[in-house]
Amino acid sequence: MMNFQGSHILSVSQFDRDSVSRILEVAQAMIPYASRQKRCHVLEGAILNNLFFEPSTRTRISFGTAFQLLGGFVHETVGQESSSLSKGESLFDTARVISGYSDVIAMRHPDMHSVAEFSKGSTVPVINGGDGANEHPTQALLDLFTIQAEMSRFDKGIDGLNIVLMGDLKHGRTVHSLSRLLSLYKNLTITLLSPKELQMPAYIVDVLTNAGHKVNITQTMAGNLNSDVVYQTRIQQERFTSLAEAEQYRGHFSLNKSVYQQYCKEHTVIMHPLPRDARPEANELDIDLNDNSNLAIFRQAQNGVLVRMALFALTLGVDEKLTQYEKEV
Ligand code: CP
Repeated sequence: MMNFQGSHILSVSQFDRDSVSRILEVAQAMIPYASRQKRCHVLEGAILNNLFFEPSTRTRISFGTAFQLLGGFVHETVGQESSSLSKGESLFDTARVISGYSDVIAMRHPDMHSVAEFSKGSTVPVINGGDGANEHPTQALLDLFTIQAEMSRFDKGIDGLNIVLMGDLKHGRTVHSLSRLLSLYKNLTITLLSPKELQMPAYIVDVLTNAGHKVNITQTMAGNLNSDVVYQTRIQQERFTSLAEAEQYRGHFSLNKSVYQQYCKEHTVIMHPLPRDARPEANELDIDLNDNSNLAIFRQAQNGVLVRMALFALTLGVDEKLTQYEKEV
């Protein structure tokens, strides 16, 4: 198992299965604190610098919420224009300076591998909140936590599951990171459903096949959604060269009540990293599924707080001290 204390969290490739199990275990232990049944201000006096150089709702706010739930203080920087990066300062120098003001840093940036570059200048742990189309490790961990939690309702674990990843698999960093994590498990059947031009990169398909999983690559929903989990993703319009190019793929794989009834199992769990594109022309994940108890998307977003609390506790070395700092509300 990796030594978490003081480590940057940049890629899911850092983790072996025991490390992932430890993160999920600590996330589970955070439930009473996140739900305000108990208080645990184990990070009182600590400072998180939350640097978001690309738009975010869930990741940025749940990082901040997680840190505050553990008693820490959060400072936010949103947008490159509000930072001296816009004056040409390097990521290394920015990191060296901000890490002097912080105990831990969470960062999102539009460029692939930029968070790793930033981490080289940092003297405190840096957690990747998404770097371009590369990776989104904390999302993948919360996705895995969600799969585990949802499957426990049916007395199933993660090994042996049948999982569909659907949508823009080329640009979707969440499915890249999740696939790498799924490669740590056994005997999965993974269906990769996307337009031909937006297929999962070959190096990620290789990660899944090398893990011994059965991988189906398809462009057809009919006959391919009969799974334990369907994980839908958004067309990542910000990663295309033009909006017109992105528009041609909208609505190819619309998941709605009628499609669910026709092609899914009775209890297929529906996941989506969110945001879902709510414009009618997007035809992505229809709101007519909102009443379906197997729609896990909001539970999934909620689980982000637990997983990020766990990562703060582990990287700051307080995961064994939670009960010591516990107080009744
Ligand atoms: N899932 C996710 O990363 O959402 P945000 O872009 O809102 O952070």
